Amino acid sequence: MNHRYFALECGVNELEKFMRLFRDLNGLGANFTVPHKESIREHVPTQSGAVEKVGAANTLHWSGDELALENTDVYGFKKLVDPWRSLIKSEPVLLLGAGGAARACLVALEDLGVPEIHLWNRTREKAEALADDFSSVPINILSDRSLESADFEFQLAINATSLGLEEGDPSPLPEVAVHPELIGVDLIYGRETQFIRSIRKNGSEATDGMNMLIHQAARAWKLWTGREPQIDAMKSAVKSKVS
Ligand code: ATR
Repeated sequence: MNHRYFALECGVNELEKFMRLFRDLNGLGANFTVPHKESIREHVPTQSGAVEKVGAANTLHWSGDELALENTDVYGFKKLVDPWRSLIKSEPVLLLGAGGAARACLVALEDLGVPEIHLWNRTREKAEALADDFSSVPINILSDRSLESADFEFQLAINATSLGLEEGDPSPLPEVAVHPELIGVDLIYGRETQFIRSIRKNGSEATDGMNMLIHQAARAWKLWTGREPQIDAMKSAVKSKVS
């Protein structure tokens, strides 16, 4: 395909300039990352339900003659947890974190029909503010003490904090909460975080966020080109870069 995907550094006040450039170049699409995921919404009025719910977008694409915003992280997260769909439908889930990534997870988990969420965040007020935006699923905000004594039921734990990005970071999940049937999902990819290590050490299953990275990109690709993405080719490309 005769296209080029390249990185552009864009200052916080340069999104309007970027949009002009995008149109001048006859752009097919774009991805946005931090710190533009929220502010791009002021420049493109057509936005998907996922963008509105998460409050952030990572993909710009054409919808007919109109430019539109999508949040493909929600789709990517659903693909990441696809092997545990029926578990998510029937058992409470523990979600660690209350930032942008945790919000995308909540939107996806709500869509997948999770019956209850236990939410923990280092800054409790942020977890409370996040929970206020989700009325259709019961959210139980955990105190540090409750997390440390693991006095609640859950089968799947998701790390949506940034703990694990740096080598030597501890796991946000205390050892005592790591039980033998636990399944762990970390949004961090390309390294074995302490969160993943402590779950695997216990003989349980844990996965990193590589599949979320691949599928959010694959979804954007489909929106831009209308063609089915070659997931296996994308996977091996990402793996060779990460290793
Ligand atoms: P992202 O877009 O990746 O979610 P973010 O919005 O900055 O990034 O959110 C980072 C998340 O990691 C937050 O939940 C943050 O907790 P606070 O709300 O208390 O800041 C969490 N986090 C970052 N560093 C942490 C640490 N050292 N211990 C525990 N949680 C941490």
